[in-house]
Amino acid sequence: MKTMTSTILLTALAVISRPQVGGTEAPRVEKRSFGTTPAGEAVDLYVLKAARGVEAAITNYGGIVVSLRAPDRQGRLADIVLGFDSLQGYLGQKGYLGAIVGRYGNRIANGRFSLGGVEYTLARNNGPNHLHGGVHGFHEAVWKGKEASTPHGAGVELRYTSADGEEGYPGNLSVIVTYVPTDAGELLINYAATTDKPTVVNLTNHSYFNLAGQGEGDVLAHELFIDADRFTPVDESLIPTGELRAVAGTPFDFRTPAAIGARIDAADPQIGHGKGYDHNWVLNGEAGKLRLVARLREPRSGRVLEVQTTEPGVQVYTGNFLDGSIVGKQGRAYGRRSAICLETQHFPDSPNKPAFPSAVLKPGERYQTTTVYRVTTDGK
Ligand code: GLA
Repeated sequence: MKTMTSTILLTALAVISRPQVGGTEAPRVEKRSFGTTPAGEAVDLYVLKAARGVEAAITNYGGIVVSLRAPDRQGRLADIVLGFDSLQGYLGQKGYLGAIVGRYGNRIANGRFSLGGVEYTLARNNGPNHLHGGVHGFHEAVWKGKEASTPHGAGVELRYTSADGEEGYPGNLSVIVTYVPTDAGELLINYAATTDKPTVVNLTNHSYFNLAGQGEGDVLAHELFIDADRFTPVDESLIPTGELRAVAGTPFDFRTPAAIGARIDAADPQIGHGKGYDHNWVLNGEAGKLRLVARLREPRSGRVLEVQTTEPGVQVYTGNFLDGSIVGKQGRAYGRRSAICLETQHFPDSPNKPAFPSAVLKPGERYQTTTVYRVTTDGK
């Protein structure tokens, strides 16, 4: 009898705690209008509700995470990503705020790479180098959006077909990015792509996090943990030299949590090149397997962001180029180091670095990566 009662109780609890896809519970995805592009395309905003009050708003313009609201220790909600109140702010934006970047996120040296004996030329939109997919990357495409049920629950599915030759890349690339709010208070991002010619692909999300709340000063007191024994040192134009350098004894060692500001201005030539942190860490563990790779904690609010990914690397960019000229949500000006990006990815310039994990996608193959941003508190 006792056993039966507890079984019934457990079953009832499971039903209460697990939102039912297609059931009668409050919808986890709500769609509303987010305006119209200058070309007349209607753009939507999808509000995704995860557990514990965590809520993300995603637009199909650039696949952008417009807001991510999460509670602090006392349950007070704040929006923890930089961005704009309306579509207008995102049009032609230079900082990639919240966007999906591609076809190749991060840099390709001199805007050139060879594949199958053919040399491809891309835009040099970052000094001598190609950055984040070129002049008109995926961050400013209007994606086809729809609510979708996925193995992880209801979410939003964004589709974009990048034409053969777009921004100089070979092959028609069909991309599907899915954002899913989970029962664990997470935002799960799944990236998939197929091509009809050999090409290179590196997709990531360029959200700028400030766990105290967007526009609430700099992130120097945030504590960061990165599960990486090595990083990829760069030249002065931020192209990796090819070396995988041990973090031990350098300002890049975050294997024990440390304040971002503790060593950000250290007299280290690498810090000089990045004007702070703007580097790729070589993540420990097996790429292809979803594993915890980074944790960010803001001591005052107690908010914690955990990053899980299947990717081999993460670009940590501490907003060194922000200078207050971008005025974002609620009129907040985004000053230097007022946020941190944790861009899960293949290493920069992989198309020209045969020893790095390959970013080549061939016809018949499927590009498939997953990154999870989990927002909790330290419970103190
Ligand atoms: C990336 C780069 C940075 C900077 C930002 C966008 O993260 O690594 O150098 O270009 O994007 O401003």
